[in-house]
Amino acid sequence: KKSDRESMLIVNSWAQQYFTTQLYEHVEGKTVGLRYFAERGFREDTIRKFQLGYSLDKRDALYKEATKNGYKKEFLEKTGLVIAYDNGGVNDRFRGRVIFPVHTLSGKVVAFGGRVLKKDEKTAKYVNSPESEIYHKSNELYGIYFAKQAIVKEDRCFLVEGYTDVISMHQAGIENVVASSGTALTQGQIRLIHRFTSNITVLYDGDAAGIKAALRGIDLLLEDGMNVKVVLLPDGEDPDSFARKHNASQFSEFIKQSETDFIRFKTRLLLDDAGTDPIKRSSLITDIIRTVAIIPDNIARSIYIRECSAMMEIDEQVLLNEVNKIRLSKE
Ligand code: CTP
Ligand code: MN
Ligand code: MN
Ligand code: MN
Ligand code: MN
Repeated sequence: KKSDRESMLIVNSWAQQYFTTQLYEHVEGKTVGLRYFAERGFREDTIRKFQLGYSLDKRDALYKEATKNGYKKEFLEKTGLVIAYDNGGVNDRFRGRVIFPVHTLSGKVVAFGGRVLKKDEKTAKYVNSPESEIYHKSNELYGIYFAKQAIVKEDRCFLVEGYTDVISMHQAGIENVVASSGTALTQGQIRLIHRFTSNITVLYDGDAAGIKAALRGIDLLLEDGMNVKVVLLPDGEDPDSFARKHNASQFSEFIKQSETDFIRFKTRLLLDDAGTDPIKRSSLITDIIRTVAIIPDNIARSIYIRECSAMMEIDEQVLLNEVNKIRLSKE
């Protein structure tokens, strides 16, 4: 007998094909879904590669088709493809949305993200599959299946926020890229990347939220012994919008030019923020010292201590003592 997990994976695989078929063959899919992707500049080969799809704007079109084909309500519900109500009603979760399947490292579809076609205040921009026996969001990274070979080859992984950032960067020829899907990076996701490389470049949106997210998630990466760089996009841009305004070589060039070591980035950002206020400066120094103290490698750590001492105009020995104090207190 099949396990629940197997049954859920089978129904997801069917649903992925169903969504793709609707995109290409249903008149609504063609006029609404395909047009949406075309307006975003997604090429046909890109749409095929990422197995994008369209969910009809009907209450239960998927549910009806699935049950007609013998798929059980139980697994449609467990995967979150449909939502069943106490009164017996069943609704498709992703109605009227374009579909981004989420693949595991080995290419299994464990979840979907659905985007509305037009932004408005009432509806969430994205609806995602719920956590389930086959989908633990904190252990998955969008795009990892399509990126793993390029990550090994380039010995670097780009980390972005969203589905469309991954897709647009692929289209621009940069394939070593994964998305944390809008949430702070987790230890599980970091381990997944670390299987393929120790070098990571964070390319977060150039808005306040993006900068905050960059500062927040990164101590975890350092703790794991990863080398972290940051690229801050121009204000208001994300990798997807940036890729649309620049060709592939301009994009690569921009990354090369603006890639900054994370600790340097953080120090500069905090220094600018603190200005000459002594209280602010001393709290920023404490903040940087804590970050530097996380770095596991002795040599890397001492290099950072030297550099930070120069940037912050603090005696190197004083910094070293403080870093060691924090490390001793954690032993
Ligand atoms: N996200 C989500 N639910 C939301 C908003 C965002 O799950 N209501 C996740 C999605 O994975 C999304 C990512 O967070 O891709 C980044 O969010 P955002 O930058 O707002 O969206 P974009 O990816 O830029 O999407 P788009 O370009 O289509 O607006
Ligand atoms: Mn390593
Ligand atoms: Mn954003
Ligand atoms: Mn974005
Ligand atoms: Mn975007």
